[in-house]
Amino acid sequence: MAQCNETLLEFESLIKNGEKKKWEGALRTGVDLGTANIVLAVVDEENRPVAGATFPSTVVRDGIVVDYVGAVQAVTKLKGQLEELLGETLEAGACAIPPGILPGNVKAIGNVVESAGFRLTEIVDEPTAAAAVLGITDGAVVDVGGGTTGISILENGKVIYTSDEPTGGTHMTLVLAGFYGCSTNEAEVMKRDPAQEANVFPVVKPVVEKMAAIVKRSLEEYPVDTVYVVGGACCFTQFEEVFEKYLGTPVVKPAAPLLVTPLGIAMNCTE
Ligand SMILES: Nc1ncnc2c1ncn2[C@@H]1O[C@H](COP(=O)(O)OP(=O)(O)OP(=O)(O)O)[C@@H](O)[C@H]1O
Ligand SMILES: [Mg+2]
Repeated sequence: MAQCNETLLEFESLIKNGEKKKWEGALRTGVDLGTANIVLAVVDEENRPVAGATFPSTVVRDGIVVDYVGAVQAVTKLKGQLEELLGETLEAGACAIPPGILPGNVKAIGNVVESAGFRLTEIVDEPTAAAAVLGITDGAVVDVGGGTTGISILENGKVIYTSDEPTGGTHMTLVLAGFYGCSTNEAEVMKRDPAQEANVFPVVKPVVEKMAAIVKRSLEEYPVDTVYVVGGACCFTQFEEVFEKYLGTPVVKPAAPLLVTPLGIAMNCTE
């Protein structure tokens, strides 16, 4: 886990500062089309992060492309931005699908990546992408994103069960806006401000427990030794504590949980 966290923090700082790292060999790009964010991750032959870029998005919802033109434009823009930084054309690109998505929607996601100018090498499933970064072959990967809570059970490196249910960071924002009588935009800002966590977390805690309840149902059928949480909605410092208490199973949260899946997609980008 220490190695994984070091890589994630390095990737996070590259994105924050708009910097690049020295690389070896061919570059590969992972494109994560999320409900809240589009993230591009570039890695080298050794699977080391080289650069990354992110853009707040509303063009994809829970793995379904709702604004095709907007999605292509956003990915094209991020790709161009990274190419300028790196001084090199990005060719190979992979993307990912959330658990349980229908074939037609898979095709649309792949088409976005191709239309943005990538040679699409792979469409991976999100838990497999995350597992590559976490360096795990067994356990539950729980992805709490903007729209949904996705659970994937891994056994011997294979995904043996998945479910994806509507409850995510968006729901936290709605609860917060209702409680404080403010707009969702204001609630969103407040939610993400670490200095406000003491005012935020008690209010959104029932949403965290709802997420845990969703996970618990799956674990009753597929018990695991460890639950790994990823995705933006688990950023709160007390998140894993509440989860662990509810589930009665050890919960591990990597550093920069927002960036696990994007980086894993890039690592899975192979010809
Ligand atoms: N620091 C933070 N604290 C709390 N919540 C955060 C923080 N940063 C981001 N979020 C929330 O995380 C969510 C986005 O997470 P993520 O980028 O993993 O989702 P996504 O991949 O876009 O969505 P999905 O996986 O549901 O399609 C949003 O609801 C956002 O408000
Ligand atoms: Mg996601």
